[in-house]
Amino acid sequence: MNNLPNDVFQKCYDYERLDKVVKSGLYPYFVPLSGHVGAEMEIEGHSIIMLGSNNYLGLTDHPKIMEKAKEAIDKYGTGCTGSRFLNGTLDLHIELEERLAQFLNKEMVITFSTGFQSNLGVISTIAGRNDIIYLDRLDHASIIDGARMSYGRVLKFRHNDHEHLRYLLENNREHPGVIVTDGVFSMEGDLANIPGLIEISREFGVRLIVDDAHGVGAMGPRGRGTAEHFGCHDEVDILVGTFSKSFACVGGFAAGPARVMDYIKHTARTMIFSASLPPAAVATVIAALDVLEQEPELISNSHRAAERARQGLASLGFNVGNSETPIVPIIVGDEYQTLLFWKRLFQEGVFANPVISPAVANGGEMLRTSYMATHTDDMIDRALDIFEKCGKELDLI
Ligand SMILES: Cc1ncc(COP(=O)(O)O)c(C=O)c1O
Repeated sequence: MNNLPNDVFQKCYDYERLDKVVKSGLYPYFVPLSGHVGAEMEIEGHSIIMLGSNNYLGLTDHPKIMEKAKEAIDKYGTGCTGSRFLNGTLDLHIELEERLAQFLNKEMVITFSTGFQSNLGVISTIAGRNDIIYLDRLDHASIIDGARMSYGRVLKFRHNDHEHLRYLLENNREHPGVIVTDGVFSMEGDLANIPGLIEISREFGVRLIVDDAHGVGAMGPRGRGTAEHFGCHDEVDILVGTFSKSFACVGGFAAGPARVMDYIKHTARTMIFSASLPPAAVATVIAALDVLEQEPELISNSHRAAERARQGLASLGFNVGNSETPIVPIIVGDEYQTLLFWKRLFQEGVFANPVISPAVANGGEMLRTSYMATHTDDMIDRALDIFEKCGKELDLI
């Protein structure tokens, strides 16, 4: 059926941005990896230093964790084939929730099948018709979509600008409200000022939700996240997180007061109408938590690797923004140059992530690099040599 007069597919036929990038030979997405995502790995037949994962603790190929995942398949099979609500809850899910609640020192934890679904489920159930959701402009897409799914009204404040947030709160004192922020901002690698947000939330009587997808496992002395890094972990109302980064798997969670978690557990559509995490994934996360508790030095190892890279990149003359985390952006400020830089780095043996609009505003185009506990000084130094070579070639430094 071709040429409908009013075709909903028309936007797809008109979508030229993709064709242009493919034609330029700089298409950087959906690159197939055919092995473990290690610190250094084979991609398309050549050796690459991996600076483009969220595998901060380097646990995706940890032998003990892999063993536990295999044991779970042997015991429980491959999938649960239903939602937690009806027929997809294993004793293993409950064990994970209890372990996480203990680790995070929260009354109750509920797990979801992805971090994205956690934000959708939590925010859309918590914010009702008369409520206001205050979002940082750089919040992750899943927070924005969760807010859109809710019946609440959304107000955005400028990134980390608490004067702007106060102004918005001041003008809406009569409405119940909730502030939702990333802990670690996923592209820029900078931190939300959590102590400041706690103070504001107390002053205005609103709740605070922190999505610490990139912070839990990577920030704070015990890996409990950005609020722990600032020494105020217990004062966040709801902590949301993911298992797809430091926990080396897939899935997500929310942690908070038992009464609130129970409400979300029984009303969130992404909990009730979506199949639960498969057994191997749950066992992986429990085993990753064991490793994190036994080897908290993994956290400082990833920070040490990031710091070596950050200092090296800055001294070469790259703009590395305000990161204090294992994520280090290299701000290029132009889409074509970013894609070209990505391609040359890839050819020379470094895998990074190109970030262009709409993920960042025009002018903020960057390469996102991230560092793992398993990156050695030698790997970082070799990567820096490649950054220098490609950066000079493209006149970026
Ligand atoms: C800040 C933030 N929140 C939520 C998510 C979604 O997590 P998941 O990949 O587990 O769906 C991500 C993942 O990119 C993220 O960066």
